Amino acid sequence: MEALKSFFATSRCSLIFFGLLLLFASAMSSSQAAKTHQHEFVIQTTPVKRLCKTHNIITVNGQYPGPTLEVNNGDTLIVKVTNKARYNATIHWHGIRQMRTGWADGPEFVTQCPIRPGGSYTYRFTIQGQEGTLWWHAHSSWLRATVYGALIIRPKEGDSYPFTKPKRETPLLLGEWWNANPMDVVREATRTGASPNVSDAYTINGQPGDLYNCSSKDTVIVPIDSGETNLLRVINSALNQELFFTVANHKLTVVGADASYTKPFTTTVIMLGPGQTTDVLISGDQPPARYYAAARAYASAPGAPFDNTTTTAILEYKSAPCAAKNCASSKPVMPSLPAFNDTPTVTAFSKSFRSPRKVEVPTVIDENLFFTVGLGLNKCPKHFNKARRCQGPNGTRFTASMNNESFVLPSNISILQAYEQGIPGVFTTDFPANPPRKFDYTGNVSRSLWQPVPGTKGYKLKYGSRVQVVLQGTNIFTPENHPIHLHGYDFYIIAEGFGNFNPKTDTAKFNLVDPPLRNTAAVPVNGWAVIRFVADNPGAWLMHCHLDVHIGWGLAMVFLVDNGVGELQSIEPPPVDLPLC
Ligand code: C2O
Repeated sequence: MEALKSFFATSRCSLIFFGLLLLFASAMSSSQAAKTHQHEFVIQTTPVKRLCKTHNIITVNGQYPGPTLEVNNGDTLIVKVTNKARYNATIHWHGIRQMRTGWADGPEFVTQCPIRPGGSYTYRFTIQGQEGTLWWHAHSSWLRATVYGALIIRPKEGDSYPFTKPKRETPLLLGEWWNANPMDVVREATRTGASPNVSDAYTINGQPGDLYNCSSKDTVIVPIDSGETNLLRVINSALNQELFFTVANHKLTVVGADASYTKPFTTTVIMLGPGQTTDVLISGDQPPARYYAAARAYASAPGAPFDNTTTTAILEYKSAPCAAKNCASSKPVMPSLPAFNDTPTVTAFSKSFRSPRKVEVPTVIDENLFFTVGLGLNKCPKHFNKARRCQGPNGTRFTASMNNESFVLPSNISILQAYEQGIPGVFTTDFPANPPRKFDYTGNVSRSLWQPVPGTKGYKLKYGSRVQVVLQGTNIFTPENHPIHLHGYDFYIIAEGFGNFNPKTDTAKFNLVDPPLRNTAAVPVNGWAVIRFVADNPGAWLMHCHLDVHIGWGLAMVFLVDNGVGELQSIEPPPVDLPLC
């Protein structure tokens, strides 16, 4: 009996101990485990005062820029988007791979029908193996002019950055501001066929800064202190403009781009195409004072109009004598910026990018593709009123294409729905692997090659196929640096150059050791870039120029990636609340 009692006593005791152990273990693991973040985005009209006047703009939750999302690698995001604006809307999570969750990618009429005014849709996706800075933006007409925000992905809990942990981190979203409603600006351009009006200002975190009228009191302050390091997460969320960015008297150490780490390198100026992000470390190693951070255009198309203004924020040392007081008397130090057309600086910068170590670039290629990217001009259609609707050069209308195909979105179903459900008549799968005609792409292009063919064509990829795409810029109407973005994938940029890509000589320049991993490639003006990726994410994935003016003109195409074998290589079923057209 006594023995039995003592048995129960010890067993109860050990049970309690075991239970405590379990509790402790689960607490330990939950601090390391991936989290799920829930957010509500309400797309709405919001009055904001910029450049001396109040404007009603479309925002998320009344914020401009919109809310910053902060997650860790491996976490899941659930964002319920409610559209209370008077325009169709979708949200795209720029750079998120969306493994098997293509339904949450967001481009309107590609992976979903738009969320109609009054409607809502919940985006659910998990971040897998991406760390650094991405962003989110509307993907419907020009709504993203004001509907965008940062998406910051930190290492998994317990993991660290591959560089010394910075004392502070500051996201800097570079934007573009129109005094007119951007939706009206694009509507007018669509009517006339001319190029849309350029913006009235650039912004940093929604503020134009000291060099614009009525803006100084809201100029963004970036804090730093002597001896500390700040991580600037620079995002080009401008609609139509590639931008230089620099900080007076300070060096920038690039450590990441497009949510992939890079081999650190130091520079005084960076250039980002719309869509691209660059993470830079900046050290408080200068006399405590105030210094401008500034951004302005890299305008690569000769003679094309652009907004030539400069946006600024202020890097302010906490110990700077005037930081606390009114600083009106002491102007911050202004940096010098490269000339608007300084392509050599862009080339030197872009050639500095490397992955931190040797990476696995596909070497055997299953799909060897060659896509021209460039502009074009359409003759005025017969039934159009020429004076009203053909205000492009010499009575034409602007257009753009890849491989002479000018991309047209469907209007009553998404490409992904049509693809998954086998609905015919929405798109065809005959997007050409090569230009229909070979010509001197970057030379004097015959007028007969300026008018592309409109259509909705995709290119099919087998699951797991190893893909190379040569992106070849053209000199049709004007050459220009095009920031080409691929949805659903990161790709290696293994080479770039000027003129026509030459497979005989240029393959020798391929970096198959440590090329940078990106989601947007700035294809050199009148030049080319070569990218490689493995098609391991089934779905319908848009590839397009991230200058929104060019998307509207048709500089886009879609990759249709098959399911592989089994559930883990197949796209998930569509969410029940997927908006219908
Ligand atoms: Cu920022 Cu279609 O993308």
